[in-house]
Amino acid sequence: MEIKEIVKNVYAVGSKDPHRPLFDQLMPLSEGTSYNSYLIKGNDKIALIDTVYPPFEEEIENKLKDMGIDRIDYIIADHGEQDHSGALPKLLEKYPMAKIVTNAKCKEITMGFLPLSDEQYMVVEDRAELDLGGKTLQFIFAPWVHWPDTMFSFLKEDRILFSTDFFGAHATNFDLFWDEDPSIIPLAKGYYAEIMMPFARIFQKYLPMVEELKPAMIASSHGPIYRRPQFIIDLYKQWSGAQKKNQVVIVTVSMYGSTTQMVDYLKAELEAKGISVKQHDAVHLNMNALACDLVDSAGLIVATPTVLTGPHPAVVEPIFLANVLKPTLKYVTLIGSYSWGTMVVQKVKEMLGNLKDTTILEPVLSKGTPKEADLTALKALAGQIEQMHQTL
Ligand code: FEO
Repeated sequence: MEIKEIVKNVYAVGSKDPHRPLFDQLMPLSEGTSYNSYLIKGNDKIALIDTVYPPFEEEIENKLKDMGIDRIDYIIADHGEQDHSGALPKLLEKYPMAKIVTNAKCKEITMGFLPLSDEQYMVVEDRAELDLGGKTLQFIFAPWVHWPDTMFSFLKEDRILFSTDFFGAHATNFDLFWDEDPSIIPLAKGYYAEIMMPFARIFQKYLPMVEELKPAMIASSHGPIYRRPQFIIDLYKQWSGAQKKNQVVIVTVSMYGSTTQMVDYLKAELEAKGISVKQHDAVHLNMNALACDLVDSAGLIVATPTVLTGPHPAVVEPIFLANVLKPTLKYVTLIGSYSWGTMVVQKVKEMLGNLKDTTILEPVLSKGTPKEADLTALKALAGQIEQMHQTL
C-alpha cells in the first residue's frame, strides 16, 4: 500500500496483506485484509493513528522514513488488538519520544501483550482533545466495539472519523476511498458478521452518535475510507436491525442419507412457500458464508443425525459459531434421524444458550429413515416457519 494523502497533511501509511488466507485463524479471506494507519501532521505536533500488524512494521517504518518523518509526538492507540498495536514497540524504538495516547483499558491490554512501560503512555479520558496545531483530535470512547478498550478519534477540522474496527472490511482491492460501489458489501458484511455482530445490541447506540458527528469521511482500521459515510452507516443499521429476509439457513450433515431425505423434503416445502433456503454443508463449511447468511436470515435449522446421543461433530462448529456470533434470529429448530436413542435436542439447546430471544420451534426427529408421520411433521414445521415469516 503506497503512501496516500487523504486531505492536506493527513496520510494513509498502513499496509495491505492481500494473501492472508484467514482472519483469527477462523474466517476465510477472499482478498486478504489491510491494517490501516494514518499520519497527521499538525503545525506543532505529529500524530500517528494506530500502527500495523507486526509483519508489516518494517514497511511502515520505511514509509515514514521516505516521508522524512524524523519525529512523531503521539501514537494514538484506538484499540489494543495486535493487528493495530503490534508494531508499537518497533516504532517506539525508532521514535522514542513519542507517547502512546490511549485510554486506561487499552493501556492495560497493550501492556499485557507488548513490551511497553508505564512512562510511554499518555492516558486520556472520554472526549479529551489533543491539539496538534491546526489539527485537533477528539477521543470518543466506544467500549465493546468490539473490545472493552475501543475508542474513536475524530479529527475535528477535517471531520474525519477514525473509527478503529467499526465499519471495517476485509478488503485490499481498493485505492484509498470508497463511495457507494456495492461490490464492497460482501466484504464489509463478512467482517461485520464475525467482528461486530456479537456486539450489535451495544453498538447500535453509537450509530446515532456517529451520525451526529456528521463526518465527512469514515476511516476504519481495515479496508477503504468511506467518503459517503451514510452508505456504511445505513448498512450497519440494516444488518443490526430487526428486519430479516424471507430466508432461512439450514446447516446439514448426514451419514447414511436419512437426514438428507428430511432436509430435501423440508427445503422443497419451504421453497414452495417462497422462502429462500441457504443450505450449508457442515462437513465442508465456509464459516464466512455461514456467518454472512446468519446476519439477515430469519431462522436457523440444524439438520444432524444423532451420534453417540448428541449432534454429529461436524455441526458442533457451526452451532458454536451461531451461538457466539449472536445473530438476531427469530427462530431455531433441529431435524434429523437417530437409530437407538437420542439426547440431541437437549444438547443442541444447551449449545445455543446465547440466543435468548429466539423462539425454538418443535424439532422433528425420525427414528431411522423418515416415514410418513415424519414427513407430515416436517410439512407442519414448514407451515410454522411460513407463519413466522409473515411478520418479518
Ligand atoms: Fe482489527 Fe480488533 O482488531
